[in-house]
Amino acid sequence: MAKYRIAWLPGDGVGKEVMEAAKIVFDGLKLDAEYIHGDIGWEFWCKEGDPLPKRTTDMMKTTDAALFGAITSKPQKEAKNELIPELRDKGLTYFSPIVRLRQEFDLYCNERPNIAIPGNPLNLNGKEDINITVFRENTEGSYAGVEYGPVSDELKAALAKDSPKMKFFMDTPGEDLAISTRIITRRGAERIIRAAFEHARKFGKKKVTLVEKPNVLRKTGGLMVEVFEKIAAEYPEITAWFDNVDAIGMWLVKCPEKYEVLVAENLFGDIISDLCSQLVGGLGFAHSGNIGSNYAVFEPVHGSAPKYTGMYKVNPMATILAGKMLCTYLGEHEMAARIQKGVELTVKERKVVTYDLGGTAKTLEVAEEILKNALK
Ligand code: NAI
Ligand code: MG
Repeated sequence: MAKYRIAWLPGDGVGKEVMEAAKIVFDGLKLDAEYIHGDIGWEFWCKEGDPLPKRTTDMMKTTDAALFGAITSKPQKEAKNELIPELRDKGLTYFSPIVRLRQEFDLYCNERPNIAIPGNPLNLNGKEDINITVFRENTEGSYAGVEYGPVSDELKAALAKDSPKMKFFMDTPGEDLAISTRIITRRGAERIIRAAFEHARKFGKKKVTLVEKPNVLRKTGGLMVEVFEKIAAEYPEITAWFDNVDAIGMWLVKCPEKYEVLVAENLFGDIISDLCSQLVGGLGFAHSGNIGSNYAVFEPVHGSAPKYTGMYKVNPMATILAGKMLCTYLGEHEMAARIQKGVELTVKERKVVTYDLGGTAKTLEVAEEILKNALK
């Protein structure tokens, strides 16, 4: 029996191609794993009315972790039109399978490493000393989905009772009003902030920065800062401070080398993690882990890239680096280091690279090259 069971979720479009590439690297490095295919994505929405069939989540529960390629998603109206005729009048609504995975497995921590590879022509301003890992809370904050609109008079009255600032909106008719909440729980704040500090301690990083806006978002931002300061005190070897989200947008572009670990609620984390990935090469490199207490799903950040589907043209490095994160999660640190080295050498030499790095190589050729370099 293999040492690990890995759920293998290629999904749609180029998701299938980059996962084939990742498999070349895992097989070549002899990761002692069994890979179990899981159905996920647009095809299953169209055929079955469910982009994440229960058989897939049931299977995942028997595995150690998952690697996921990418899926296609479309607006609700198009989604309905693409259902097979038998399913069209069943009142089905499309939902994002990746959001559901995060909820179903309580994958509260979204970890996004952004490590500049020396010689990568896509590094912003030629900087090579960027190494920033973003910890984004994945289940609450501004994306908890607690939203109102039109707003009832009862809700308006209830809000006005507890918040004096509501007086500015009492005259706006309910149908002209929309309210999205930003929910922070102490438990939610604690577990993402602790994950960031634990990561810093484990990997010898010296700086952790909270990204917030507590001077304006006083309640939620205030709770985040309070929890951050309390937890920071348990890690005296780490320098901890908070930056305002708007200011850090400038600082990250100006001097990204100042930061090591960033931690943020869902929306702020979403924005700064995309910003950080563009500092070090963008979608061909950006990868992430959705990590919970008992399970984790690793993925490239990019989508199914329909215009390149079937062409084996896109850069597999993002997915292969997601595979590196999976190895680290499993405790296979030597293999993780080999994958990093394989990608680094391939980028540095730029002999066998995809179009985004100025090359003409195909997705699977790049995987072979990374493997060759990883084995050196
Ligand atoms: P996308 O990420 O699929 O592609 C946008 C563009 O980025 C591509 O056309 C290509 O120029 C470039 N690109 C993407 N991946 C690349 C790679 N590995 N190497 C080199 N270049 C790469 O985003 P788009 O076009 O907005 O969305 C396409 C579909 O993917 C949509 O249905 C969308 O909903 C879905 N999507 C899924 C995600 C996921 O599965 N996690 C994330 C983002 C979008
Ligand atoms: Mg995003």
